[in-house]
Amino acid sequence: MSDISKCLTINGVIMIKTAVLDVTQIEPRLKHPTIFEHFDALEQGESFIIHNDHDPRPLYYQLLGERGNIFTWDYLQSGPDVWEVQITKPAKEQAEETVGEIAAKDVRKADVFKKLGIDFCCGGKLTLKEAIAEAGLDEEEVKAALARSEAAGGGQATHDFDSWDLGFLADYIYNVHHKYTRENGPIIEQLADKVASRHGNTHPELFELAKGVKVLMENLYSHLQKEERVLFPAIKTLESSGERAQMTVGIEGPVHMMEAEHDDTGDELRELRRLTKGYELPADACNSYTYLFDKIKEFEDDLFQHIHLENNILFPKALKLEKERLSNADAV
Ligand SMILES: [Fe+2]
Ligand SMILES: [Fe+2]
Repeated sequence: MSDISKCLTINGVIMIKTAVLDVTQIEPRLKHPTIFEHFDALEQGESFIIHNDHDPRPLYYQLLGERGNIFTWDYLQSGPDVWEVQITKPAKEQAEETVGEIAAKDVRKADVFKKLGIDFCCGGKLTLKEAIAEAGLDEEEVKAALARSEAAGGGQATHDFDSWDLGFLADYIYNVHHKYTRENGPIIEQLADKVASRHGNTHPELFELAKGVKVLMENLYSHLQKEERVLFPAIKTLESSGERAQMTVGIEGPVHMMEAEHDDTGDELRELRRLTKGYELPADACNSYTYLFDKIKEFEDDLFQHIHLENNILFPKALKLEKERLSNADAV
């Protein structure tokens, strides 16, 4: 291994000393681990350069898959004989975690987001700053609430979803959330029809609500079926196929399709909230009316957790695993 240093010059001024890792001198099986060691040792704002005799593009995907979108990748030389890439961990602000990632790691923070109305499942790809702005909240207050949840200790996840095998997590989602949806969806549909027929004259928005509930449920039933028939089995195959995986069917397309459908579900739920002014009961609401609103709120909570587990844990981890498999098949 050759590990020399190079001074980077910006506007004629020597700025930082950056390590250059000559990958051509490293034993093949040690190439990736060595590069990862260098990467992990970087502080925010630091970088190193890899020197190679061919394009190290597969490494880019492996790094992205294993460490996430927390680095920049800049070609300083692009062949034909020498390739040099500068890999940088940007300063903290640029590499800010998304609310989905924060919620996936710590359920106490997910609870804070839920209480404050910060959408961490369908809107989970926003950074904390962006999500706070979207919810119209005060950044300092939200950060203080998050810090308090950390300091409070206890209350950590009863299930550490983030550490589960993907197949196990997919089975959990099916057994808990898909079954809940199938059992409770029809109950809510019937209830919404009944309440609309009884109270629609004085509260015409109930007809719209019943129609919206039907659309939501129909879309959900077809969505669950796609996950159960296509995506979840593909994720399980990917996980069990080991290092020798033959990448015949990619999961990226199905994952993006499911994420887009989650966004549609989020829109449909928001519309139901708008119609009912946040499920505010009128003074003349009967027991069925009250039960309907309670049931929809409960359904919304379950769906929120369901989509969170898929959008923020199952899908990103499955995509990362697929990238690893691909890059192992085509190592630097
Ligand atoms: Fe699902
Ligand atoms: Fe889903």
